[in-house]
Amino acid sequence: MKKKLLITRKLPSHIIEPLRNYYDIAEWSEEEAIMPRQRLLASVKDCEALWVTLADKVDEELLAHAPNLKIVSTLSVGFNNIDVSALHSRDIIATNTPDVLTDTTADLVFALLLATARRIPEAERYLREGQWQGWYPLQLVGKDVGGATIGIIGLGRIGQAVAKRALGFNMNVLYYNRSRKIANEEQYGFQFREFEDVLKESDFVVIMTPYSKETEGLIGARELALMKDDAILINAARGGIVDEDALYHVLKDGKLWAVGLDVFEQEPVALNHPLLTLPNVVALPHIGSATLQTRTAMMNLNVQALLAYAQGQQVLNQIH
Ligand code: DGY
Repeated sequence: MKKKLLITRKLPSHIIEPLRNYYDIAEWSEEEAIMPRQRLLASVKDCEALWVTLADKVDEELLAHAPNLKIVSTLSVGFNNIDVSALHSRDIIATNTPDVLTDTTADLVFALLLATARRIPEAERYLREGQWQGWYPLQLVGKDVGGATIGIIGLGRIGQAVAKRALGFNMNVLYYNRSRKIANEEQYGFQFREFEDVLKESDFVVIMTPYSKETEGLIGARELALMKDDAILINAARGGIVDEDALYHVLKDGKLWAVGLDVFEQEPVALNHPLLTLPNVVALPHIGSATLQTRTAMMNLNVQALLAYAQGQQVLNQIH
């Protein structure tokens, strides 16, 4: 008898096709809207396998509704949507999608860095709104990226990919990480600093740390105050790492050159969110890994894990 798999998103049929040999698949039929929680709890009842996205919480409540669950795959590298210890205490495997999205996400971080420094969205609005009357010397002047100091909080895989891009812009690379990355220091000249010193010394502060209880609110009023008055803050990791309220007040008071955000505490962010009223906030709808190649590669990793489980083989990309 085939195992039951629930997929909480509509995914391309050619991607999930190989799973049909092993699983009876129930799929949420809408591509954009998430599966309502009550529907998810009801649908997961008989499932042995569950394929989720970062918008679906896999917690004690869900597990109580899913007595047969044995494997959960998330279409993301971040797994703050999953209560990993609750899964492990029930011997349920959890898998994610590392590596394949590293470069794509680092590109997006750099896009935000350039967009904020050179005021790209603001300049585009200026043109389209008919404000462009001609060229003048201090029109839409930005900040140089080349030669500036970038400070990366969290030098994991994506942080390292951002740092390597920064070298191409002749930037001075500082980083803070719980453990020193000596090989990176020796090979690329990245310089370790204590957390607060990264904030104080950097022209661009880039948040690349995973979201957890320890990093929740990591950048609040005190940390923002330590940053240079004309620094730029980029967050493409998770919303809850930066205190949005504190960030809004700091920006309102004229501190920081700009902020680039691909992630928010609540997603989708409310259109009346105070941060969206500020011209120097560049806001994106969590598109860090959103290229066709990368999203396809991520989905394929989930498929591989679910297939390996069904075939009794070793499951790769397990979250430990
Ligand atoms: C992730 O994978 O964790 C990203 O946030 C979504 O691509």
